[in-house]
Amino acid sequence: MDVLLIGARVIHIGSAMLWFGGAILFAFFLDPTAKALGAAGQPFMQHLMERRKVGIFFPVVAGLTILSGAVLYWRDSGGLQAAWIASPTGLAFTIGGLAAITAFVGGMVLIGPSAADQQAVAREMAGGDGVPTSAQRERLERADRRLTLASRIDLPLLILAALAMAVARYL
Ligand code: HEM
Repeated sequence: MDVLLIGARVIHIGSAMLWFGGAILFAFFLDPTAKALGAAGQPFMQHLMERRKVGIFFPVVAGLTILSGAVLYWRDSGGLQAAWIASPTGLAFTIGGLAAITAFVGGMVLIGPSAADQQAVAREMAGGDGVPTSAQRERLERADRRLTLASRIDLPLLILAALAMAVARYL
């Protein structure tokens, strides 16, 4: 029994399910609902970020997926043997892995700082009269544009990663 392989697979598939499923739930249900509620959606998002720590959840599950994926990739490729990497199965795992890593970097660069800025503005507004100044509105709009861009880039990459991983072994 290969304990390392089993452990890495359990961590990899478990964290990948949480990352991929969470991203779909966030992009298609939670975010549009908060937006549809307008100003009333702000406390909902704030609770999600600050109390439920969704901004920690995603980097943790994505990081675990990538680390355990790297262990599996190293093992499957026999220490990065070109023959395995160039095979249809190896190529599919490589493309899927790179897509997921790019989605992770995109999330760290675009989602994390933008969500933090949105929360900072919300806190500033809560400490004032609750009406955003033009500078605050500009920050909110910039953060919103970046979050929209991130979800347009990240979701297709995550879908590609999941599809590539699902079929790789059978190519
Ligand atoms: C959203 C991201 C990801 C998802 C949804 C995902 C999903 C999966 C799934 C379901 C499997 C099982 C496939 C099978 O046994 O036939 C798998 C296996 C694998 N994944 Fe991923 N994965 C992701 C990211 C990554 C990354 C970033 C890497 C590399 C750095 C990677 C490398 C691998 C490897 C090498 C295997 C084969 C494991 C084995 O031989 O048992 N994955 N992945």
